[in-house]
Order: sequence, then structure tokens, then C-alpha cells
Amino acid sequence: MERTLVILKPDCVARRLVGQVVERFEGKGLQIAGMKLMKIRMPLARKMYAEHKGKEFYRPLLRFMTRGPVVVMALQGKDAVAVVRQVLGPTFGPDAPAGTVRGDFGMSKRYNLVHGSDSVKSARRELALFFKPGELVKSAPPDFDWVYDTAGGELV
Ligand code: RTP
Ligand code: MG
Repeated sequence: MERTLVILKPDCVARRLVGQVVERFEGKGLQIAGMKLMKIRMPLARKMYAEHKGKEFYRPLLRFMTRGPVVVMALQGKDAVAVVRQVLGPTFGPDAPAGTVRGDFGMSKRYNLVHGSDSVKSARRELALFFKPGELVKSAPPDFDWVYDTAGGELV
């Protein structure tokens, strides 16, 4: 089962949108495999966003991500990486369609509420930055065979 890292960013927590955003993921059928509130310190922020080093938005991004508490989540499901990105919508609220998290809650080209890993490889790297393997739930949720048709042996 695929896992992805989601971060409810400092603006999401400060604006008290955690519940509404988590509701979107739960409603969709994604399983919460791990979840915690924490403050990201600068060294961790640098590791997380190493790929953006040198870009003009790198420093403001580090400032943003360390500005207040965040909620980090490991979400699990079939094609979880791509599904989460669909739920979030395009990077910035003003460009994102209604019905997506960023489209419904964001106005800024910087404060964009939620992070979702952009590939299975990034997800693996990012999950390891925030969760120890033993911290994540491994068992399937009780409604698993209502979220997917499992009758044929694969998830449809
Ligand atoms: P994320 O990583 O947060 O899920 O967002 P993303 O893949 O859609 O966007 P990415 O290109 O990875 O950029 C990471 C975060 O950097 C900030 N950003 N600011 N031009 C700018 O001012 C700019 N571009 C990117 C955003 O917070 C973005 O989510
Ligand atoms: Mg990204």
C-alpha cells in the first residue's frame, strides 16, 4: 500500500483549518497511518526542502515552514501520492479550482496550507524525516473492503 507525507503547514494550523482539511482526506478514503503536531526547526526544514535550495523562494519558504506549529501526517491508500495531490489542487490558492483544499481555503502565492509529497520516491524520503518506522500503523482499517473492491484479490 502506498504512503505519502502530508504537512498541514503553519498557516493551516494558525487559521484553525486542521479539522476541515483532515476531513477531506478521511472522507476520500485515505487511511491516517501517522499524525503529530510539532514545530519544524530550521535544520529539518533545510533537509526537507533541499531540492529548492538556491531558488528565489527558498528562504521565504524556510521562514514560512518554521513560523509556527504544523501537523504532519502519513496517509496510506492505493496511489496515495497522486490522490493527495489531487485533493490539494495546484500549488497556489488563487490558481486552484474550487473543490480542492488550496482552491477553497487559500489566497496566497506563498501560504498554501498543505504539503503533499510529489512522488513515491520523495514520499519515502520525507516520511523518514518525520516518522520512525514503528510509529506508523500497519493494519488495514475496518472499512477497507468498502473503500476498495477487494473481491478479486486486488484493490479496485
Ligand atoms: P508542496 O511541496 O508544498 O506540496 O507544494 P508543490 O509541490 O505544489 O510546490 P513546490 O514546487 O514543491 O514548492 C514547495 C513550496 O514552496 C513554496 N513556493 N513558493 N514562487 C514562489 O514563491 C514559490 N514557489 C513555491 C510553496 O509553499 C510550495 O508549496
Ligand atoms: Mg513539492
